[in-house]
Amino acid sequence: MTDTQRTQARTVTKAVIPAAGLGTRFLPATKAMPKEMLPIVDKPAIQYVVEEAVSAGLSDVLIITGRNKGNLSNHFDSVPELEFTLERKGDEGKLEKVHGSSELAEVHFLRQGQPLGLGHAVGRARCHVGNESFAVLLGDDLIDARDPLLDRMIAEHDARSATVIALMEVPWESIHLYGCAVAEETDDPDVVRVTGLVEKPSREEAPSNLAVIGRYVLRPEIFDILDELEPGRGGEIQLTDALNHLAEGKGEGPVYGVVFRGRRYDTGDRADWIKANVLLGVDHEELGQEIGDWILDFADRLRARRSGD
Ligand code: G1P
Repeated sequence: MTDTQRTQARTVTKAVIPAAGLGTRFLPATKAMPKEMLPIVDKPAIQYVVEEAVSAGLSDVLIITGRNKGNLSNHFDSVPELEFTLERKGDEGKLEKVHGSSELAEVHFLRQGQPLGLGHAVGRARCHVGNESFAVLLGDDLIDARDPLLDRMIAEHDARSATVIALMEVPWESIHLYGCAVAEETDDPDVVRVTGLVEKPSREEAPSNLAVIGRYVLRPEIFDILDELEPGRGGEIQLTDALNHLAEGKGEGPVYGVVFRGRRYDTGDRADWIKANVLLGVDHEELGQEIGDWILDFADRLRARRSGD
């Protein structure tokens, strides 16, 4: 399929990326810098997410921001003085890296206004999205580009006229960190029918260990539901609560989940962020060999140090 045919066939063309969180888990690094700008190897986390949207055919990207997020919009702008200097030096490689983020997509920004929760942030996208289905990508979840997920979700949305969320089996002791799904099997082992959702249940209350990971393909009916929603867990307007409304059959269309079994990195957590840097570092074109060699050597030294303790 050519790019033009793909665009014509698309029912989903817009991506919304909520990025208004305060990033308190990364203080002091995030005191004056948005958490979405923390680099993973050599690119800020947000760039991976925008690249993922673009490779799923969504080149119209709306980023919902909050206070102190100026750096985010700068990252998707051109930087004439830097480009001029690199051009003068004839440094094509670096120039390409600078252009990479500014020519990636049509990136729009909208301020959330008040930090009332993820559901509220998504609701703010209505003026940009209008009466169309759209994708939501959360910046803390990084999906490895080698394991595409969003394309599959959009295909399920189209085929089933449904809201589609991404799910992943997590250890039971971690389920309290996620939205959690009540799900029924379908004929397809990668797809479940979602009949209920609960935001961050305790391990005891969790109906399953199927966690909502931060990818959603939503139908525009979500906006009316979000508008009517009372604050939920943590006093915030929860996207999970709006989806639960649909999952319980109170909306127009059903909710399906695509069960993801690929590589995902939680970059909102410090330890996982470091692991993501290592995992993507060893596979990096230019740096991989050096980092891999060093890790193997370091692992030996660490093992020796620990056994000497
Ligand atoms: C949000 C959602 C939650 C989801 C999670 C995925 O929570 O509210 O349902 O499972 O993202 O990362 P947050 O991690 O922003 O607290």
